[in-house]
Amino acid sequence: MNPSANQRFKFFPQLNELAKTHWLSSSNSLHLELTDTYFNSDSLQDTFLRAIAAERLLPVKEVLETFEFFARIRKDTKTSFVADLCCGHGLLGILFAMFERKVDRVRLVDKKDPESRQKLLTIATQVAPWVAEKIEHDTSKISVDDDWIEPGCAIVSAHACGVLSDLCLDIAIRSGGPVAILPCCYPRSACQAPLALQTSFGLEAAFDIDRTYRLEAANYRVRWAEIPPEITPMNRLMYAQRR
Ligand SMILES: C[S@@+](CC[C@H](N)C(=O)[O-])C[C@H]1O[C@@H](n2cnc3c(N)ncnc32)[C@H](O)[C@@H]1O
Repeated sequence: MNPSANQRFKFFPQLNELAKTHWLSSSNSLHLELTDTYFNSDSLQDTFLRAIAAERLLPVKEVLETFEFFARIRKDTKTSFVADLCCGHGLLGILFAMFERKVDRVRLVDKKDPESRQKLLTIATQVAPWVAEKIEHDTSKISVDDDWIEPGCAIVSAHACGVLSDLCLDIAIRSGGPVAILPCCYPRSACQAPLALQTSFGLEAAFDIDRTYRLEAANYRVRWAEIPPEITPMNRLMYAQRR
């Protein structure tokens, strides 16, 4: 494995020198055999991972992609109030609550309230008691008219499917705060990019180029980055701050 610097593991650098990487994209639950081998330090992140593994709560892929996404956006996205939209299990928002002192409030928003979220929050609170008081739940569909949207609040979202990622961008443009998305599912019918871009660069890049121009037009400075492709080929992320 010889990834470019951009694609190396940042949160878990011990995974950069692996001979076998197939398990990094596994949809099987993280389990103690793996954590005992690769995440066995006394650090907060390893302690948290072992607690997740003990319950077999989340797939390996989802855990690693969320940590590596967080590692790339945390510095530019942390504000006192962070909203994790289409949060599912809520791990991304929980990482902001756990690792960023500057973050006082994290709103976890999803139209569903999966059992895994409450279990994950219980585990997170056991290893990092300060997490509980920062988290607020919101079981609803996201909308640009939501009344919780405050000026300057950060919007983050991992794998909001298709145009839900665009809705996250619109919500951020309304708040004026920083934004970070790790898009997935690129529906051709919803792509606003010119056909020439879609043909030359492919649907996914064209979609994200169009998103970039939309954010830049709203006075955001946009950056692209990648999480390690060994976790998922859907590895491009976009983060932006208003100028
Ligand atoms: C692919 S999952 C991603 C979950 C999580 N962020 C992750 O990284 O694993 C997409 C999530 O979006 C949620 N969702 C779908 N439509 C939504 C909507 N209109 N408003 C809020 N959440 C929605 C689903 O319930 C699901 O949890």
